[in-house]
Formats: sequence, C-alpha cells, structure tokens
Amino acid sequence: MQGHVEIFEVGPRDGLQNEPEPISSRDKIALVDSLSKAGFARIEVASFVSPKWVPQMADGAEVLAGIARPDGVRFAALVPNMQGYTGACAAQVDEIAVFASASEGFSRANVNTSIEETLVRFRPILEQARGIDLPVRGYVSCVTDCPFDGAMPPEQVARVADQLFAMGCYEISLGDTLGKATPDSVSRMLLAVQDHVPVTRLAGHFHDTAGRALNNIDAALSLGVRVFDASIGGLGGCPYAPGATGNIATERVDAHLKRLGFETGLDADLLTQAAALAKSLRSGARDDHV
Ligand code: HMG
Ligand code: MG
Repeated sequence: MQGHVEIFEVGPRDGLQNEPEPISSRDKIALVDSLSKAGFARIEVASFVSPKWVPQMADGAEVLAGIARPDGVRFAALVPNMQGYTGACAAQVDEIAVFASASEGFSRANVNTSIEETLVRFRPILEQARGIDLPVRGYVSCVTDCPFDGAMPPEQVARVADQLFAMGCYEISLGDTLGKATPDSVSRMLLAVQDHVPVTRLAGHFHDTAGRALNNIDAALSLGVRVFDASIGGLGGCPYAPGATGNIATERVDAHLKRLGFETGLDADLLTQAAALAKSLRSGARDDHV
C-alpha cells in the first residue's frame, strides 16, 4: 500500500457552476447528499459570488440549509469578497475557499480586478475567519497556462501561493484551469511553489480538457502531493476561462489512485451512483428527458 491520498470533491460547485440551464436546489442537495455517503472528508458545495456573474450558484444558502450534515464531512464554499464571506458564514459552512489567479488576464476576467487587489480583499476575510476558527483554503488558478496571458512563469505562481499561505490559508490548491498542463510544466511549477509552501499543504486541481489530467496527477504524486480536487461525473469547467471544460472525474481519479496502490477511503459503488446522478443534471442530459 502506497498510503492515503485524499480526493477533495468539487463537483457541486466547480462542476455545476458552468451548467447553462438552472438546476434546482433540490437536485443540488440530492447530489451533495449522495456524495456525503461516499467517504469524502471535504466537499465544496456552493459559492457565494455575485449572482450576476454566476447565476447557477445563486442558491448556495438554500443548498447548505437543505443538505444532510453527517459527522466527518466538511462542507465548503467559495467566497470572492467580504460580502461572500458574510453569506457563507450565515449559511454555516464548515470552511471557505478564497481564489486568486496566477495571471492578470484571468484575474480580470474572473473577478474583475488585479491579482494584488484580490489579495488585499482576502486579508480581512482571513483575519475574521481566524477569529472564529473557520478554515480557509486558497486556490490559485491558471498555474501553468492562461487563456489570456499564455504560459505562466512558475515563479509567478509561487509568489501568489506564498502570499495566500502566508495570510493563513491552510492548503493551496493549484489549478490547471485550462487543462493545458503537461507533466513537465506541472513539475516545474510545483518545484517552484514547494520553495515557499510545504508540499503537505498543496493540492492539485487538474482539468482533463487535453486528456492529460491523470498524467499530471502522476507528476504531482511523484513530487509528494497527496490531495487532488476532482468533480463527480467530470462535470464542469470555469465560466470565465474560454475552453476550460472538463474537470477530471472523481471516479476516474479514485480508480487510478487505487490501481497505483493508494487508499482513498472512497466507496467506488457509491461514486458510480453519484456520477450517474451528476451526469443526469447536465443540461444536455436533462433536455434528452424532455
Ligand atoms: P464586480 O462586478 O466587480 O463587483 O464583481 P461589485 O463589487 O461591483 O458588485 C457588483 C454586484 O454584485 C453588486 O450588486 C454587488 O452587491 C454584488 P448590485 O449593486 O449591482 O445589485 N456582489 C455580490 N452578490 C453576492 N455575493 C457576493 C457579491 N459580491 C458582489 N459575494 C466579483 C466582482 C468578485 C463579485 C465578481 O467578479 C464575481 O462574483 N466573480 C466570481 C466568478 C466566479 O465565481 N468564477 C468561478 C469560480 S473560480 C474557478 O472556477 C476556478 C477554480 O475552480 C480553480 C480552477 O479551476 O483553476 C477555483
Ligand atoms: Mg476547476
């Protein structure tokens, strides 16, 4: 046995946020509840962002109010600013995630401001979260390639990861938002980031747009990363990264890790059921039923 690798489930947020047709809170709650039984320690279930920017995530409070809250599972939500933080706290999340970009182009497209201003917004959020013992995760997007700025210098990624870690994020998730990363570019980026953030505090967030997510996971595993984000049924992408479809599917990552001899604590049959439910929520799938 190679040891434990955690899959951080992001489907109900990162997966569903990109769906063009409205999905009911009831369906989102059913998806989260089916995931809660599968053995995850952490599930990202909502984002408290502007509903004008991401209408699909406007019902985060309803989702959090409706889901079962079994012991041992932490339910997380993404927040971009203090308004989001207040909403997430009112909805009694177990943890929050703040998100910054390694590239200026994606930062502007995703949150309408610069990397620096994003980090300035996060500081008071981190301070308040510390005051109530609320764990905060930090995302860095576009860690190897940006749809607007091209290839990312690893040092630039390391600088943003370092600042998020220094302000108190307990873990930094490194996102290949575009799905263009290769094992080489992932390794170069990780080596730069590891000079600033211990590898035990890093997670990999790979999209499978080009079919390389599992190879990229292997590269990260060989450098010591032991947490990977994944989206049930392969739902998702980012609405502000053109072409960024295809979060790597949780059930594929789980099967891959188990083949390599890692233990994930996840029940493959329950993942299969949750994946079927996730796929049925896709707008194409729902149109088929009409
Ligand atoms: P803005 O338009 O510059 O902000 O957006 P604003 O402060 O001028 O506010 C505009 C309106 O939004 C106002 O309402 C605010 O009240 C409201 P109005 O006065 O016009 O009626 N507003 C909010 N409402 C609810 N909750 C809030 C909130 N904030 C403002 N928190 C802003 C700036 C950051 C708000 C916007 O750009 C935004 O919400 N962006 C989020 C985009 C997003 O969610 N992207 C996807 C997630 S990131 C991702 O997927 C990548 C990741 O998965 C990793 C990876 O894959 O690499 C993490
Ligand atoms: Mg993503």
